[in-house]
Amino acid sequence: MTQNSPYKRFFVPRSREEEEEEERIYKRYEEIVAKLPTTEEGWSGNPVYQYQGFWYSPEICVGTLAVQDHFKAQPSDILIASPPKCGFTWLQSLAFAVMNREFHHPSAHSHPLLTFNSHDLVPTMEIRLYNNHFNGNRIPNLEILPSPRLFGTHMPYTSLPQSLAHNSESRVIYICRNVKDTIVSWWHFVNKVRSSNPSLELIKLDYIFELFCKGISAFGPFWDHVLGYWNASLERPQNVLFLKYDEMVTEPVLHLKRIAEFMGSPFSSKEEREGAIDQIIKLCSFENLSNLDVNKTGINSPGIMNSVFFRKGKVGDSTNYLTPEMMEQLDHITQQKLHGSGLKL
Ligand code: A3P
Repeated sequence: MTQNSPYKRFFVPRSREEEEEEERIYKRYEEIVAKLPTTEEGWSGNPVYQYQGFWYSPEICVGTLAVQDHFKAQPSDILIASPPKCGFTWLQSLAFAVMNREFHHPSAHSHPLLTFNSHDLVPTMEIRLYNNHFNGNRIPNLEILPSPRLFGTHMPYTSLPQSLAHNSESRVIYICRNVKDTIVSWWHFVNKVRSSNPSLELIKLDYIFELFCKGISAFGPFWDHVLGYWNASLERPQNVLFLKYDEMVTEPVLHLKRIAEFMGSPFSSKEEREGAIDQIIKLCSFENLSNLDVNKTGINSPGIMNSVFFRKGKVGDSTNYLTPEMMEQLDHITQQKLHGSGLKL
């Protein structure tokens, strides 16, 4: 955890016995992960592990086990979920701006989104809160947060803790994206992260593509991840809202209204008249967020450059990278995987 980590307050002082107990808990998770199916064909330079049908880097898999055992959902919780590179950062920002608009006017010069990256405002459970590499083997105390609480996750739906999925009243907002742009965005992201480690070479697109098609990407297989939340959104529409990046880009107003309604705080006619919707869209736009100092040069709490979350923010950029054969292969897999689901990507 870095010196100025906004998460520090979640880690309350503990006794020596509690410290030893939490160390034992995380050691046990590490032992469990070490025995999972694994492959050297990863994206991070280290082996990756398969847990409950999905691929993880080891420390995030440990975080996932800790979330499953220790996160206690509250009925008013709201969870932002997505596979990586599908607009998570954007949705975190929109949801944060919607939830806090009473205290932080979207056009205020002091708005937290202007000085913090959204990942520091809407912490990702398995990466930021329960990751022992980052938090020093500590279980966070999230009870201290006021309701409604807003968290993020990339965990697949079927791996969410029982208290969050299934019987819970908590709400999940999921965002996915067309698979072609997702792969290209993922490839750029992996290389940006690898380039900060001099011992790692950059990876070729062909390699990442081949792995992705085999289901090996962070929290992959991508299609299974999407289907898990899609089916949940059909079964529990009042609890799971399913969004597509590509549609949000073309109709941001419509989707922002849907998000606010789903979160239980629809825009009033007065807010609409006074331009709150457009102000939030502008605040959270790629152009605005990607040009802020905090997102150009800042480093977020686990030590990742905030700039890795911003690249082009366009629909269809994959046509500049993927060959017609690659596109065809992806169409074929997508058709097979989504067949009969009613979902089009
Ligand atoms: P590209 O690499 O295609 O540009 P995630 O947040 O899930 O990691 O997704 C990252 C993708 O969302 C990147 O796509 C990034 O540029 C884009 N993105 C980030 N912030 C955005 C915003 N405010 N509006 C639209 N797209 C955004």
